[in-house]
Amino acid sequence: MKHILFISLVVLFASCQSKEEIMYQQYVVEGRSIYEKNCANCHQSDGSGLRDLYPALAKTDLWKRVNAQQLVCIIKQGQKGEIKVNGKSYSGYMPANTKLEAIDMAELVTFMKDSWGDKKMYSFDEARAALKNCP
Ligand code: HEC
Repeated sequence: MKHILFISLVVLFASCQSKEEIMYQQYVVEGRSIYEKNCANCHQSDGSGLRDLYPALAKTDLWKRVNAQQLVCIIKQGQKGEIKVNGKSYSGYMPANTKLEAIDMAELVTFMKDSWGDKKMYSFDEARAALKNCP
C-alpha cells in the first residue's frame, strides 16, 4: 500500500512538472513570434542590436540594471534619452508598444529570459500586475 502511494505521488509530481514545462515552452514559442514581429527589426533576431543605433539585448548588463517590472514598462512605453548598455552610450528612440496585452507581455518576457536571461518563466499574473504598475 505504501508503495503504491509512493508511486502515485511520484507520477503526480512528474505530471505537474511537465505541465509547467509545456506551458513554459509554449510561452517561449509564442514570445519568439511576438519578438520577431515587434522587436527584431531593430534589436535583430538574435538580440545582437545594430551598430550605434539599437542596443543589444543579448549578452548585456540589461538584466543587472533592469528588473522584469521595469522591462515591461520599457516595452509598453518605449524609451528615449541616454542609456548605457555594456558601457556604451545610446541616445535613440524606441517606440511604445501599447497593443501588447498581459499575455503577450508574459510570453515575450519569458522568451527574452529564455534566450538571454535567467531562463525562468514570467507568468501572466506577474505581467498583468507589472502593466498596471507602470508609472
Ligand atoms: C524602432 C526600433 C525599435 C524597436 C521596434 C524596438 N526597440 Fe527596443 N530600443 C530601441 C532603441 C533605439 C533603444 C535605446 C533607447 C535609448 O537610447 O534610450 C531601445 C532600448 C530597449 C531596451 C533597453 C535596453 C537596455 O539595456 O537598457 C529594451 C529592454 C528594449 N529596447 C526592448 C525591446 C523590445 C522587447 C522590443 C519589442 C517589443 C523593442 N525593444 C522594440 C529601438 C527599438
